[in-house]
Amino acid sequence: MIKLSPSILSADFTKLGEDVLAIEQYGADMVHVDVMDGRFVPNISFGFPVIKALKRVSGLAMDVHLMIEEPSKYIDAFSEAGADIITVHYESDIHLDRTIKYIKSLGKKAGVAINPSTPVSVLEYVLRNVDMILIMSVNPGFGGQSFIDYSLEKIQEVKKMADKYNPNLLIEVDGGIDPSNIEDVVKAGANVIVAGSAVFKNNNVEENIKQLKEGF
Ligand code: DX5
Ligand code: ZN
Repeated sequence: MIKLSPSILSADFTKLGEDVLAIEQYGADMVHVDVMDGRFVPNISFGFPVIKALKRVSGLAMDVHLMIEEPSKYIDAFSEAGADIITVHYESDIHLDRTIKYIKSLGKKAGVAINPSTPVSVLEYVLRNVDMILIMSVNPGFGGQSFIDYSLEKIQEVKKMADKYNPNLLIEVDGGIDPSNIEDVVKAGANVIVAGSAVFKNNNVEENIKQLKEGF
């Protein structure tokens, strides 16, 4: 089963609650929450209070993507705020194995993300112990960028590793996904699709989600 996790980075922040209720109503499976600290990525987005507030209005799982330095310092706080899946970047944590175990000890799902330039081979061992791998298909920091084509090859490689070591692995792909490429992304092996601008463009969440789902 393919899951859709719309990124609220592209939602209208003046009516975030309504936007999240809309994606829930029109068939999203989770909410992708992009947390940026202005250090790991050249942009600052939002943090704990936003997750807490969304948790009050929506029953969707909170899929929290941490684009921050030293993520291990903030796992407790994101867990308490209501994150269901906590994903940290390989590039920002030199003790990934410890952080993954800690996230799981809190009863949350643990994910590891890799930037476009990071080879899949770095996942060989952690992939066995995580719930999700997130393959970035744009350089993290901003919504609305173009999909990097070589990401398809990386998805295929992760899928092969998952078949061998962790068949239940969630393989999430994030960045530049729209109706023109979603089918290729799914065929390559992704089973969780993040989309921001493609979901919220033109103020037409219902039609946008419908079009994306045609590619599943
Ligand atoms: C980029 C974020 C993505 C982004 C996706 O740093 O991690 O989740 O918001 O947005 P689109 O789908 O517009 O590329
Ligand atoms: Zn993201």
